[in-house]
Amino acid sequence: MTAPRVLVTRHLPDGGLDPLIEAGYDVTLPMPGETLSHSDVVALIPGHAGLVCDLTDLTDAEVIEAGLPTLQVIATVSVGFDKIDRATAAAHNVAVTNTPGVLDETTADLAFLLILTAARRSSGAEADLRAGRWTGWAIDDHLGIDVHGATLGVVGFGRIGREVARRAAGFGMTVLHSTRRPTGIEGYVASLDELLERSNIVSLHIPLTPDTHGLIGAAQIARMPEGSVLVNTARGPIVDEDALVDALESGHLFAAGLDVYDGEPKLNPRLLTSPNMTLLPHIGSATYATRTAMAKMSSASVVTVLQGGQPDNLVPPPT
Ligand code: GLV
Repeated sequence: MTAPRVLVTRHLPDGGLDPLIEAGYDVTLPMPGETLSHSDVVALIPGHAGLVCDLTDLTDAEVIEAGLPTLQVIATVSVGFDKIDRATAAAHNVAVTNTPGVLDETTADLAFLLILTAARRSSGAEADLRAGRWTGWAIDDHLGIDVHGATLGVVGFGRIGREVARRAAGFGMTVLHSTRRPTGIEGYVASLDELLERSNIVSLHIPLTPDTHGLIGAAQIARMPEGSVLVNTARGPIVDEDALVDALESGHLFAAGLDVYDGEPKLNPRLLTSPNMTLLPHIGSATYATRTAMAKMSSASVVTVLQGGQPDNLVPPPT
């Protein structure tokens, strides 16, 4: 019997392919230093039983159908799965897996970094220092808002949101959260509008779906108290970026911190010139340990599916 073939769209951290190699699978990789484009994947996928991709790969019907009838599993090395056409995958019994759990704490750390950086305006302060604009300590220079004692509104209370809340408790923050279903946990508020109205700092931890696309627009930002802060480490299109920049320019919001963008890696140019805006290049899960764990988890889930099992990290089809 020939070994199952697995197509991997980019080079993974060392050890990331170990589960596939240990299972004796035949792994197709890009040339050293290269990654596979959408058209490369469409051309290469016929005959493969598994596809290991990530959040930058559009895994649409064209890719999935090109992989039939051999394709059985798509494993994205990311917790988000918005680039995968889950309906087409489900229609053809192709399993989809992601990487929940292993990146929660790392992503929560990064969300907290943005909360602190935005509230204390530290990236602007550092830019002033580096550019030679710092003339010395001044009583009214580079003033921020306090994180300790503030009210943090966590939108979405899945694993990452809960880790952010746990960190916030250590900072003496009051923590509110909103979700689609009541959590029964202290701090739950039934409506997003109420959460926005009661929070000084809001951090987003929800997946991008048709329901959450544009969830935070001008009307929602207007509900946030004057002088508050918005942080997004979830997905760019959840926030209306123009509305966010308008609110920073008018001074309604004090600051914002973003790790994700609508249409990334292209950036809305207004973000780059917006006041009090901290911008990071989608590094929420970017630590050596976590990226390796994510890659291993994806490879392991391909093996589980191809051996007839049900991995814990199966992504459900859309409802
Ligand atoms: C990061 O954004 C992820 O989805 O893993």
